[in-house]
Amino acid sequence: MSKFDVNKIRSDFPVFTDKSLVYLDSAATTQKPKQVIDAVSDFYSNYYANVHRGIYELSMKATEAYHSARQKVANFINSSDWRSIVFTGGTTESINLVAYSWARKNLKTGDEILITEMEHHSNIVPWQLVAKETGVILKYIPINTNGTLDLSNIDELLTNKTKLVSVIHQSNVFGTINPIKKIITHAKRVNALTFIDAAQSITHSQVDVQDLDCDFLAFSGHKMLGPTGIGVLYGKPELLDSMTPFMGGGDMINSVTMTKSTWNDIPYKFEAGTPNIAQAIGLGAAIDYINEIGISNIHKYIQHLLNIALEKLRAIDKLTIYGHQVGESSSVISFNLEGVHPHDLAQFLDQDGIAVRAGHHCAQPIMDKLGVSSTIRASFYLYNTEKEIDKLCANLIKTAKFFKGL
Ligand SMILES: Cc1ncc(COP(=O)(O)O)c(C=O)c1O
Repeated sequence: MSKFDVNKIRSDFPVFTDKSLVYLDSAATTQKPKQVIDAVSDFYSNYYANVHRGIYELSMKATEAYHSARQKVANFINSSDWRSIVFTGGTTESINLVAYSWARKNLKTGDEILITEMEHHSNIVPWQLVAKETGVILKYIPINTNGTLDLSNIDELLTNKTKLVSVIHQSNVFGTINPIKKIITHAKRVNALTFIDAAQSITHSQVDVQDLDCDFLAFSGHKMLGPTGIGVLYGKPELLDSMTPFMGGGDMINSVTMTKSTWNDIPYKFEAGTPNIAQAIGLGAAIDYINEIGISNIHKYIQHLLNIALEKLRAIDKLTIYGHQVGESSSVISFNLEGVHPHDLAQFLDQDGIAVRAGHHCAQPIMDKLGVSSTIRASFYLYNTEKEIDKLCANLIKTAKFFKGL
């Protein structure tokens, strides 16, 4: 870990001037370094204007910065074409965009969409809505209770009716990293399109859309040090080109008459109205920040934290960890402490400045599978430390004792 200086990294995050804060909820959203805050503030303070509209200098500067953010995203996921990057409000909007602009337009009764039981609600509900409206059948790759996908029947689940396979890359509950390349290969055998939900994996792994050869991929800026309100839909350009717009309005048109309109080129066709300019610029700054540290250094560091956290949590009596038993996983750990409701536990931890998530983590099918209504989730990112893991474990032991004594 010699090249990775966590203290220096922490000093970039204004929120950590509060030394008592132990922030372990990065799977929900990450804290922001001053480089991102400054980039957003610089835009609002020094060159704020709308994009694509004005021929005056400020607007041209804003347009350039917005475009440069798009190019940074394209480079980050190794897309060779910036037109493949659509800015959205987040992963949820990206998935809904495809559900509206592709699935509703191209699928018919009896066609099938295959997802997994491990999905975040945002990769379940949009397809359920499609199924309800079109008669499409929604099928699920099952999960094992150890937090992995059960791919033993994948070739039976995939049929010549399967038109789309949409899969979470890294579970936001178990931390499991799914073998998406293998799933994409299977999907291609039946000519199904593929959609990867990279909301969790993008924060620490080299996501390479050319290597994956997926058709769509989505992620959110706010989970990777960027602002809220900005997300990405990657789509193969020829596919995006063939799709009709999701929303109508300014900027997404070529021409409008009283009777009809024609569409702008991709990606603008999918970015109706004034876009989230400041947020896109902030996302560009977040990518610069991650690149400066190096995504593989971030990955190594959080794997190191994961190993330490697993070892220490496993040593706590009556604590059940979900997942992390076989295969690859990352630094998201869901667990329960026997006899303590997750919400009570989260409140106790909060009293000592430890922020963890308690709930179903927008993945109720997983909770059903595990037979629990909720769990605690601790998730670690590049600014967390071994000391914070110790503090979490000490507090868990203290809380367990308190509840035992009641
Ligand atoms: C795996 C996964 N997919 C999708 C989402 C939805 O992201 P957003 O709320 O930013 O749209 C999340 C958020 O927690 C997630 O973890």
